[in-house]
Amino acid sequence: MRILLIGSGGREHALAWKISQSPLVNKLFIAPGNGGTALCGENVPIKDNDLTGLVKFAIEQKIDLAVPGPELPLVLGICDMMEKAGIPCFGPSKYAAQLEGSKIFAKEVMRDAGVPTADFEIFDNAAGAKDYIRAKGLPLVIKADGLAAGKGVVVARTEEEAFQAVEQMLNQKLFGEAGNRIVIEETLVGEEASFLAFCAGEEVLPLPSAQDHKPVFDNDSGPNTGGMGAYSPAPVLPDSEIPGVIDMVMRPVLRVMAERGHPFKGILYAGLMMTENGPKVLEFNTRFGDPECQPLLMRLDADLVPIMLSCAKGSLRGLELPLSPLTALCVVAAAKGYPGDYPKGMEIGGIEEAEALAEPGRIKVFQAGTKAEGGKSVSSGGRILGITALAEGLEEAKALAYKAVSQIRMENMHCRSDIGDKGIRRLRGN
Ligand code: AMP
Ligand code: GLY
Repeated sequence: MRILLIGSGGREHALAWKISQSPLVNKLFIAPGNGGTALCGENVPIKDNDLTGLVKFAIEQKIDLAVPGPELPLVLGICDMMEKAGIPCFGPSKYAAQLEGSKIFAKEVMRDAGVPTADFEIFDNAAGAKDYIRAKGLPLVIKADGLAAGKGVVVARTEEEAFQAVEQMLNQKLFGEAGNRIVIEETLVGEEASFLAFCAGEEVLPLPSAQDHKPVFDNDSGPNTGGMGAYSPAPVLPDSEIPGVIDMVMRPVLRVMAERGHPFKGILYAGLMMTENGPKVLEFNTRFGDPECQPLLMRLDADLVPIMLSCAKGSLRGLELPLSPLTALCVVAAAKGYPGDYPKGMEIGGIEEAEALAEPGRIKVFQAGTKAEGGKSVSSGGRILGITALAEGLEEAKALAYKAVSQIRMENMHCRSDIGDKGIRRLRGN
């Protein structure tokens, strides 16, 4: 098979690493890829939002399966365009990708489907939004409707913060059209979990739970990032509770999408808040999470390619997901300053030494914002590496991942030191 993977992050290196292990694959292209994906296949310089360029390339290269990693091409409609050209595409249609691309769309589907989520109202003018904020009282969460590169959500603790968010989104157009409408919702309290499943029509093939770490500094402080680390399984969402989440969240949403004549296929990712009253959905994504993908794929003891191909064709019948019982934990190495301004071009060393610390398959350094330059590997983005380890339990996986981190040589490197700690505390019962 000939596969075209789209994207350039750590998630795409993990996908490329897994896809390239498949005996079914004889050619893997990554558009545009990064320094890590170049080790698994051939990078091609086409951007993830150049849909026409991607489809043209896929036709020319007789691609058998297209795999978009990030949300942007999905929301722009890459699957519809690939499929029109006769190329199976692992992901939802443009319509179904609105579950991620429009928070209002997602909220309305959840309301139709009876899925537990925060109470909410929708606004398109600042005066109405401010009246609502005054009447409700704080804290409240203000969300831009459309894609905002992870920056469109403000958890407002004071009226001033809430009003500022409303002004920035609706009047100052900080997120452009993505902020033409906003959602204001109640603040949920609890620990977060990421639950991802392969879905096709009304069929669900669940992955095990994971947990992301969005804030940039230890103890969940500082601004939100794309994710500073992740691990799987997450004790806050044990395997025993997954059937309940499938029945309460995934199946009802899939049913509503099918009833609307737009059956969902691809990865449905529910960002959950595990509240006192059970899990509630914070958001949907319609793709693998980054960095959740890295630990999840480390645990997957199966060939990913037939699963994605069958899912792309609309069925999961007869498929299984054999998983390692071990725990996987990924620590992101970022550039100091990220998610604000940060330096680039730092030389990266120690990847091979890190991977050699344990038996093969136990440590993998996934690359995100990296590129090869003059025979060296240098940083080119905010999140640079995802150092991932597989071990007997969460404490062991954390210890092994940080041992591998200590082998990495790079200036201006920042990692959180507490990836996995919430899970470790929960397992210890405190
Ligand atoms: P989202 O993109 O909707 O997942 O929001 C990004 C982050 O904002 C989430 O991971 C949560 O940490 C936080 N968040 C979003 N919605 C809520 C809510 N209703 N209550 C509390 N925190 C929230
Ligand atoms: N790690 C969160 C996301 O991929 O959206």
